[in-house]
Amino acid sequence: MARKKQQIAVLGAGLMGHGIALTLARAGQYVAITDPVEETRNTVVARMRQSMQALGDDEFVIAKALKMIEIFETTGVAVQKADVVFEAAPEKLALKQQIFSEVEAHAPDHCVLASNTSVMPITQIMANLRLKNRAVGTHWWNPPHMIPLVEVVSTEWTDPEVAKAMFDLLEDAGKTPVMVKKDVPGFIGNRLQHALWREAISLVENDICDAEAVDTVIKSSFGRRLSVLGPLENADLVGTDLTLDIHENVLNDLESRKGPSPYLKKLVEDGRLGMKSGEGFRTWTDAEAQDVRDRVARHLQRLDKILID
Ligand SMILES: NC(=O)c1ccc[n+]([C@@H]2O[C@H](COP(=O)([O-])OP(=O)(O)OC[C@H]3O[C@@H](n4cnc5c(N)ncnc54)[C@H](O)[C@@H]3O)[C@@H](O)[C@H]2O)c1
Repeated sequence: MARKKQQIAVLGAGLMGHGIALTLARAGQYVAITDPVEETRNTVVARMRQSMQALGDDEFVIAKALKMIEIFETTGVAVQKADVVFEAAPEKLALKQQIFSEVEAHAPDHCVLASNTSVMPITQIMANLRLKNRAVGTHWWNPPHMIPLVEVVSTEWTDPEVAKAMFDLLEDAGKTPVMVKKDVPGFIGNRLQHALWREAISLVENDICDAEAVDTVIKSSFGRRLSVLGPLENADLVGTDLTLDIHENVLNDLESRKGPSPYLKKLVEDGRLGMKSGEGFRTWTDAEAQDVRDRVARHLQRLDKILID
C-alpha cells in the first residue's frame, strides 16, 4: 500500500494526531483528520503550520502539505474512504475500543487499523474487531514529526502483509519504522526507557546521588553516543566477554523490584508532580521548565541535520 497514494484518517487532532497527520501529508498522502472538540479542530491547521515551521519548511512546502489535509467533525465521515486509520485519541481503553467499533462500521474492509497507544496492549484495544487481521499498533514518539522512530506492533492475529505494508508506508513518509513481533507492554522503546528510569530513581531513593547527578551522568556520558550507537552495537564494540564480566559484577546490585518505586509514589502523593507543579525530583521555575522544552526542541532540530551527514 505504501508505494502509492493512500487515503489516511487520523482520529484525534491533539499533540500526536496533528504531528502524525502533517508527517503523512508532507509525504504526499491524503489525510482526513477528526476530533470531537471544536476548538481543537479550529486550531489544528495553525498548530500543523507551526510544527512544519519548526521543521524548517518554507511556505511552499507548508501550503502543499496543508492542501492534502481535510478536517472532519465525525469519525464516521473521516474514515469512509480510508485505506489506513491512525487512532491518536486519549489513553483510555474503553474509549479506544469504542472508536474502533465505530471505525469498523464506516471504514472499508481493506482499511488497516492502527492505534497509537503509549503502553496499552493492542490486543486489548482491538479485541472486539470483526476483522482482527488488519489491526496493528503504531507507536509514534513525541513530537511525532521530529522523532524518527515508529514501532509497528503485531498482535497474534495481525496479517504479516498488513504489518509490512504499514512499515513501508511509514518508511516512505521518512520515518524509521521497527517491527515489534509480540504485543508486549511498553513495546521496545518504553521497556528500555523505563528500565533506565527505574535504576535512575533507585539511585536517588538509596541516596547514592541526587537527581541532578543522575541526569548529568547520562547527558555527559553514554547519552552523548546513544543516537549513533545502540547498546547491543556497543556490547559488540567492547566485546561480549567484557559485557559478561561487567554483568557478573553489577547486575546483582541493580534495582529489580516489580512495581513502581515507593519514592515515586510519595512524590505523587505529595503533589510533587514535576514541572507542572514546580517540583518533582527537582525544583523548577516556569522559566527553567520552558528552557528545558526549548533546549529539547533545538537539540532535535540540530540533531536531525547532523545525523543526515
Ligand atoms: N504525548 C505523548 O508523548 C505520546 C507519545 C506516544 C503515544 N501517545 C499516545 O497517543 C495518544 C494521543 O495522545 P496525545 O498526547 O496526542 O493526547 P492529546 O490529549 O493531545 O490528544 C488527544 C485528542 O483526541 C481527541 N479525542 C477525544 N475523544 C476522541 C474520539 N472519540 N475520537 C477522536 N478523537 C478524540 C481529544 O479531543 C484530543 O484532541 C494516546 O493514546 C497517548 O498515550 C502519546
